[in-house]
Amino acid sequence: MSKGWLRALQSDPHLAGAISIVGLVDVNPDAATALAAEFGLEHAVVGTDLAEVLQQTSADILFDIVIPGARSNVVETGLRHGCHVLSEKPLAASMDDARAMVALAADVNRIHAVVQNRRFISGVRRLRRAVKEKLIGDLTALHSDFFLGPHFGGFREAMDNVLLLDMAIHTLDAARFVSGRTPLSVYCVETNPAGSWYAHGASATAIFQLSGGAVYSYRGSWCAEGRPTSWESAWRLVGTKGMLTWDGNDGFEATVAGDEAGLLRGYRSVEVPMPDDDGQTQGHRSVIADFLAAIASGRQPETASSDNIKSLAMVFGAIESARTGLPVRLSQEGS
Ligand SMILES: NC(=O)c1ccc[n+]([C@@H]2O[C@H](COP(=O)([O-])OP(=O)(O)OC[C@H]3O[C@@H](n4cnc5c(N)ncnc54)[C@H](O)[C@@H]3O)[C@@H](O)[C@H]2O)c1
Repeated sequence: MSKGWLRALQSDPHLAGAISIVGLVDVNPDAATALAAEFGLEHAVVGTDLAEVLQQTSADILFDIVIPGARSNVVETGLRHGCHVLSEKPLAASMDDARAMVALAADVNRIHAVVQNRRFISGVRRLRRAVKEKLIGDLTALHSDFFLGPHFGGFREAMDNVLLLDMAIHTLDAARFVSGRTPLSVYCVETNPAGSWYAHGASATAIFQLSGGAVYSYRGSWCAEGRPTSWESAWRLVGTKGMLTWDGNDGFEATVAGDEAGLLRGYRSVEVPMPDDDGQTQGHRSVIADFLAAIASGRQPETASSDNIKSLAMVFGAIESARTGLPVRLSQEGS
């Protein structure tokens, strides 16, 4: 994923002008050296010890793109060296780790934010705008379907709760963002279906109660062969006046009640407005730009860990529900 970040930086003149990469750290030095060569960063210090490289380079910012299990140490090291830190998702491998990072960032007065890049895309922003502007009335339910069969190899095929922790965090965060509601409780069934090439938890079905009486349902699998859904999921939003569907690509349809007499009232189409800010639809580029703007202005970025922990609580609530077989009341975290 570090290549995705470097491509995002190098393809945006504003970011390329604002940020210069002074060091690359990887426990596997060959990986960092190869990255430096591929992206023309031969001047950068390459090392395996983060603290040493931070000391040597006096970096202001740390981009944390390590695997989830290594995140907590890396973030702590960066924050304690006075860096603002932007981490890949998921924020943490446990709620305790997440709470410790949020508390440390506040203590040392540095910004720590998460790359929740899949909310910085046009489709999710359109859903959010439609809900905010009550295009289909007041939101009463959201549903998302995520069915793909990627063969990644690597850490994902060995980790526990792989779908919920490594992928569903994007979708659950998007649901929280789109709805603008507070998740209150979750009931989840997680399985590793027959034929799965993952060690654990490649599939999950979860139902969340949201504030204001709304419901969110998530159905997902990362070992579903055949025609896939979009990586953004296929969505259905239900409101008091109508429904909005998004296929996760370009297909949007919003319809509200028609005026036919009889059992069904029929329906009429309404236009789904485009996002109101193009700058917020460029994935990693938008997240990094928001992070830099937050550092410059002193405000918290949209995906500050103190807010993102609320999405992580949805993931860990679902994991606990799956483990216990019981609904779980979600703790109200962060700011
Ligand atoms: N936002 C997205 O769309 C997206 C997409 C893919 C991956 N990711 C996230 O990016 C992160 C990395 O995933 P990846 O696919 O690049 O994994 P990867 O295994 O391909 O790369 C991880 C790299 O981190 C290095 N590493 C591990 N522990 C380290 C440590 N303690 N210090 C320094 N380096 C260390 C590894 O040697 C490896 O080179 C994960 O959190 C993953 O969930 C996000």
